[in-house]
Formats: sequence, structure tokens, C-alpha cells
Amino acid sequence: MSKTIYILNGPNLNLLGQRQPEIYGRETLADVERLCADVATPAGFSVRLMQTNHEGQMIDWIHAARLEAAAIVINPAAWTHTSVALLDALHTFEGPVIEVHISNVHKREEFRHHSYVSLRADGVIAGLGIEGYALAVRRVCSLLG
Ligand code: DQA
Repeated sequence: MSKTIYILNGPNLNLLGQRQPEIYGRETLADVERLCADVATPAGFSVRLMQTNHEGQMIDWIHAARLEAAAIVINPAAWTHTSVALLDALHTFEGPVIEVHISNVHKREEFRHHSYVSLRADGVIAGLGIEGYALAVRRVCSLLG
């Protein structure tokens, strides 16, 4: 079994730390990667963090995860609320999938309350800042044993 956990990030998250810091905080994706590795490494897993602004690229990475990853932690960003294609791609992946949102999407605009990805996710974390990613990694490590 693969020992790699994919940490996938959707559109605009490359600007994490600079973009609307009052909502998403000042920490960056490099900080996310470090937090996740701190949890995964002692459990015998490695993390591979990726970010894209292109939906087709994200779908290709999910297909690659079928062979290369034991689990997926995904912040689909705006595609959460719009993308049936992303949901369909996640349905092709057999391992654990945890959906993460930095902000509490349920406290925000109504269009953020619905998630296509939640129809596949084994767990959903929202509103815990970037700590949510580390908690998601902890969960997949325990699910994978
Ligand atoms: C987000 C919430 C989404 O609604 C938004 O489009 C994002 C980030 C979050 O992490 O809180 O880009 O997924």
C-alpha cells in the first residue's frame, strides 16, 4: 500500500496568507505542508501537497492518486460548491477522503453551504483554520492504521 497522503488544494489557495487574511489567516501553504508532515511522519506516512487553479489538473491529480496515494485530504475551495466533475473524480478513488475548509463555510454566504465533495468525503472539517488539515491527516493515519 502507498504511504503517501495527497493534500490537494483548489483555486486561489496559492495566495493563502495574502488573500483575505481576516477570513483565511496569515499562514501559507508552506505552513500547511509543515503541519501535515509533523503529523504524518511519526505515523510512517509522507505528504505531498499540491495546489492548482485549473480544474482539469485537479482531476488528473485525483486520477493519479488512485495509484500513488493512500488517502486524499482536499480543500476544493470554490469547486466545492460547483463541481460535479470533481465529485465524479473522487468517486474513482477508493481510499479515505477528508474535505477541509479553512473558514467555517456554514457561517458564510448561502452558496457556500452546499458541497458536492461532501457526497464522497468520509469526513468534513470546516472553520478550524489550517489546523484542520493536520487533523484530517491525523484521521487518515488512524483510518489507514
Ligand atoms: C474555502 C471555502 C470556499 O468557500 C472558498 O471558495 C475557498 C476556501 C476554505 O478553505 O474556507 O476558496 O474552501
